[in-house]
Amino acid sequence: MKAVIFDLDGVITDTAEYHYLAWKSLADELGLPFDKEYNEKLKGVSRMESLELILALGNTEYTDEEKYQLADQKNELYKEMIKKVTPADLLPGIESLLKELREAGILIALASASKNAPFILDRLEVTHYFNHVVDVTQIKNGKPDPEIFLTGAAKLGVLPADCVGVEDAEAGIESIRSAGMYAVGVGTPAQMQKADLIVASTSELTLDLLKSSHANRA
Ligand code: BG6
Ligand code: MG
Repeated sequence: MKAVIFDLDGVITDTAEYHYLAWKSLADELGLPFDKEYNEKLKGVSRMESLELILALGNTEYTDEEKYQLADQKNELYKEMIKKVTPADLLPGIESLLKELREAGILIALASASKNAPFILDRLEVTHYFNHVVDVTQIKNGKPDPEIFLTGAAKLGVLPADCVGVEDAEAGIESIRSAGMYAVGVGTPAQMQKADLIVASTSELTLDLLKSSHANRA
């Protein structure tokens, strides 16, 4: 294992909940029956694709301009929520894992679909741990396509087979696996069916666990 490539929302910090709340507020306003179960489909998916999934719950047609306006409305609400993010919002064990990885000379990248990712890393005060943050505006195909994780590996100069990817979304696990990397899923076995290794909480993620699981991969 030469590098670990992290997802952000739901792995480094629990902003997945804020994305949900912001979409929920928009869906309520539009009278659409959006709930937590349906929200699983949105995890890891870009802003505009998420909006399309929500609008598919109703049968109103919107113009492109209206769609951009709705996506903006959600993003403004989301940005209000993430202004309050502090280092205390790092998920359990994440900062010690980032430290351990750096000390062991393992490279670290971020592969998040969120355009707000650099701002959130700064709020969490962990930007300095990352050797590379993939610029999502340069990615043509979002998760589950492997492009974002492959770009992370290429920018770090490591082979996909030497990378471990960490995700909390089904689309993200698929992206890691099709990139030819070892996939670690944070969540329940039902949500993380395709992961190579599943942990219930980020507190279980340690250098030892990642290294030995990657070394013993099938
Ligand atoms: C992903 C989240 O990390 O980023 C998705 O899991 C979100 O829920 C996507 O839609 C895009 O985020 P943003 O901040 O660019 O709207
Ligand atoms: Mg996520």
